[in-house]
Amino acid sequence: MMRDDGHSNSPVAHLAAPAFAGDAVKSYLEGPPRQVPGFSSLHRMAGMLLAERSPENGRVLVLGAGGGLELKAFAEAYPGWTFDGVDPSTDMLELARQVAGDHGSRIRLHGGGIDVAPDGPFDAAACLLTFHHIRVEQRLETLRQIRDRLKSGAPSVVAHMSFAQGEPERSMWIDRHIAYGAAGADASRLESTRKAMRERLHILAPEDEEAMLRAAGFAAICLFYAAFSFRGWVAYA
Ligand SMILES: C[S@@+](CC[C@H](N)C(=O)[O-])C[C@H]1O[C@@H](n2cnc3c(N)ncnc32)[C@H](O)[C@@H]1O
Repeated sequence: MMRDDGHSNSPVAHLAAPAFAGDAVKSYLEGPPRQVPGFSSLHRMAGMLLAERSPENGRVLVLGAGGGLELKAFAEAYPGWTFDGVDPSTDMLELARQVAGDHGSRIRLHGGGIDVAPDGPFDAAACLLTFHHIRVEQRLETLRQIRDRLKSGAPSVVAHMSFAQGEPERSMWIDRHIAYGAAGADASRLESTRKAMRERLHILAPEDEEAMLRAAGFAAICLFYAAFSFRGWVAYA
């Protein structure tokens, strides 16, 4: 696996949230399958949607690729694809390298945000469980930069937390999200998770997500995944 660490001191290094550094990364792999309903099906559906319009030797951009779970799932399902995985967290990229295992020869990893991604052009892009970590004011530019790197008409899949932001809905959905993934956690840990969600995540309502995809120039935006506190869309460059 090629590893491009030349950007670890770049201005985007601060993008990696504390949750994605040090000890927290050691237990990362057990989190998404517990917290995200239908997690492995999400990978399967995302892969299918990208494959509909990608060649067998497709070149795929994965933003927020740390941990490597979707890289591994896509690499297993589509043996001809190659990948550029981008993530600001050095520790999460290292985990991705380990998780990708033998598929590593088809994956290049880049440390940073979307601005360190190669120009492409890519046949497809995916960004899973990541946009709620990107500040709202950076979202549109990030989406535009993904689109700029895609071939005309190429598919892009995004899936992350998205729910109504008025009250009481916002608080209710935060509580539901936490309750869903709570298995075995004690009350004080749940409270600190609730606080972190409120303070650190950048969650938009589904209609605002779709408006932003449109503003970034994506077309034929279609919801394909709606699972409790999560939504996923496919859209075309
Ligand atoms: C919840 S993890 C999801 C990782 C992987 N996509 C998955 O589904 O398991 C969120 C990832 O987004 C990364 N991240 C945070 N801010 C980012 C940004 N501005 N651009 C790209 N990735 C970012 C984090 O470092 C972390 O690896």
